[in-house]
Amino acid sequence: MSEGPQSDGPLSGPLGSAGLRAARRFLPAQNGLNGTITVPGDKSVSHRAILFGAVNDGPLRVSGFLHSADTMATLAAARALGVEVDEDGGDLLVHAGGWEGLREPADVIDVRNAGTLIRLLPGLVAPLPFLCVLTGDLSIRRRPMARILQPLAAMGAKVAGRHNDTLPPIAIRGGALRGMRHELAVASAQVKSCIMLAGLRAQGVTEIVEPAASRDHTERIIRYAGGRVEREGTPGGPGTVRVWPVEKLHMDSLVVPGDFSSAAFFVVAALLIPGSRVSVANAGLNPTRTGLLAILERMGANITVEEGPETGPEPTGCITAATSHLVATDVGAGEVPNVIDELPLFLLAAARAEGVSHLRGASELRAKESDRLRAMAALLQALGIEVREHPDGMDVAGQPAGWAGGGLVTEGDHRVAMVGAIAGAASAKGTTIDDADCIAVSYPGFVSDLEALEGR
Ligand code: S3P
Repeated sequence: MSEGPQSDGPLSGPLGSAGLRAARRFLPAQNGLNGTITVPGDKSVSHRAILFGAVNDGPLRVSGFLHSADTMATLAAARALGVEVDEDGGDLLVHAGGWEGLREPADVIDVRNAGTLIRLLPGLVAPLPFLCVLTGDLSIRRRPMARILQPLAAMGAKVAGRHNDTLPPIAIRGGALRGMRHELAVASAQVKSCIMLAGLRAQGVTEIVEPAASRDHTERIIRYAGGRVEREGTPGGPGTVRVWPVEKLHMDSLVVPGDFSSAAFFVVAALLIPGSRVSVANAGLNPTRTGLLAILERMGANITVEEGPETGPEPTGCITAATSHLVATDVGAGEVPNVIDELPLFLLAAARAEGVSHLRGASELRAKESDRLRAMAALLQALGIEVREHPDGMDVAGQPAGWAGGGLVTEGDHRVAMVGAIAGAASAKGTTIDDADCIAVSYPGFVSDLEALEGR
């Protein structure tokens, strides 16, 4: 099995969910952005809260859960596996009885636009003796799956997928698994987490060699729930993660922090828009996620971080950002994993910085909800910014004087859409994005939070 092409003939066409496309205009924030907000729960941790809740030994209370299109798909998937989930005053109560409590889903599971779900769930069900078939929207059906199917097959699961086992729909018929060593070609937390989930129920130790440290939410939750995971290697750099099989995992409760990736939109917006000062309270500050802060600080950004109390496996705190004069910087492969979802925002910040910024080692951006290098090159060009696209990155010639605005294409990608909105708030005349509905994938209240900070 090879990784397979990103785009294959039968599914070519615009990306995103089911043709819902509402264009929306974003006007300049005349008075800057000001105030303190909290952002909704972390998407990565919310997916994991449900997936680990589904095999928890006993009920699990999840607080701070993100209610978005992506995480609702995970909730529906857990229910399809026989797990009961109730809402309780803003919290979720997941009623589970370990792996033995899961049953074969009666139908194909539709992950919609959720890449994390389609990559992690196969690892959860791989040790179980039943069939699980997963599909998703047009964007999902173009995303490479050999990276998870190959390791699961090597551990002993039967797997299949469209296009020579490389693309969704995918099918997993689980069974007895053996722990083994896997060498990842790319630093991917989704792939690492999929293998770790399978390793929790395999015979013997499972080892994952990662070329750079990707986000470690799964490791933290496993330890928090009483399992054993160790990492050997350089912090941030290459390393080997080992996971041991467990009989049971148990948590009474899990607190989901605010999503750093959502907070990042307002941090960058505050830097770009004159007269701004924004604080984001209760933001996740996991160091495998906050790479953007170091990059922005290098660019001269006025950002302060105040750490908050520990309430669960993830560190949190308050991030404050104020209008700043930015200078260009370079971002290379070593920094990419910890800023992977914020790279579109970095590129927007680079478009306002003095000088030419260079991004390299980021070809993974082409395998996200959209080809984010192509989408961001087109977005910046539509704003009148000079860019040069490379196979693994981009050069951006910043315009400190700003941009007028324009019509922007999101490719149905929630993060590109929010960048387009911030570009409008930071423009002289406003932007129009072709699809604002896709924002609900990760941040349904984004527009009203932006308007509140604008004082509208
Ligand atoms: C995620 C990992 C990253 C990230 C995605 C969420 C996760 O993907 O881009 O939004 O929750 O593990 P990769 O593992 O493919 O880099």
